[in-house]
Amino acid sequence: MQLGTLYGISVGTGDPELITVKGLRYLQQADVVAFPAGIKGKAGMAEQIIAPWVQNQQATLALDFPYVQDNVTLTQAWEKAAERVWRVLQQGKTVAFACEGDVSFYSTFTYLAQTLHQHHPQVKIEIVPGVSSPAAATALLGIPLTVQKQRLVILPALYTVHDLERALDWAEVVVLLKVASVYDQIWPILQKRGVLERSWVVERVTWPEQQIYADLQNSPTLKLSYFSILIIHVQP
Ligand SMILES: C[S@@+](CC[C@H](N)C(=O)[O-])C[C@H]1O[C@@H](n2cnc3c(N)ncnc32)[C@H](O)[C@@H]1O
Repeated sequence: MQLGTLYGISVGTGDPELITVKGLRYLQQADVVAFPAGIKGKAGMAEQIIAPWVQNQQATLALDFPYVQDNVTLTQAWEKAAERVWRVLQQGKTVAFACEGDVSFYSTFTYLAQTLHQHHPQVKIEIVPGVSSPAAATALLGIPLTVQKQRLVILPALYTVHDLERALDWAEVVVLLKVASVYDQIWPILQKRGVLERSWVVERVTWPEQQIYADLQNSPTLKLSYFSILIIHVQP
């Protein structure tokens, strides 16, 4: 029997209409639609985003990816998820894995695909690109992400606060992901640099409850959701 294909599908940042035409076609043609399992019994982000598109006859597969930094636990989860996907592909069925934002941009899919490839290199994996959070946030703000010769640095802030000063020295535009839990540490650095006026936090961009915090001069602390992004125009 021919093996099924695994598709990694970018589903955009929240608004279900941000999925691409190709992504939607692959998603709806798949035998099985997979996504990261939510926590505490709630549907995960990708699962919520694709809810309007999944067909009644499609099977779903919620895969567990724990929110921890411990490599052993993470590797075990990727192995288990890859094994579950493999069992479906072995039956000749296709699997579409829905990924919030863009699939190649700080995404769990990368680890799933790598693990599957390691154990079963014969499996065909196809990736559909999509709308990432920096693209969605700048569109909402009505500002360009970059123009002309501007240099852009993107940092996953949770792990890289120590790199921020260097990024501000070097780039004209700095984007911080995973900023929620370190926002209070970052604010004094932005204040010292005089860039708070040209900084924006966008929370849950393209969701109905999306929130923009512009001009952060009076916001030394913010209680933010994990799904928050900070954009800094370093130069006026
Ligand atoms: C694991 S990364 C996933 C990035 C995602 N693949 C993308 O293309 O944007 C999670 C981080 O992306 C950012 N992010 C993802 N979706 C977002 C949204 N809807 N609104 C604001 N930030 C978002 C946040 O900084 C969050 O902490």
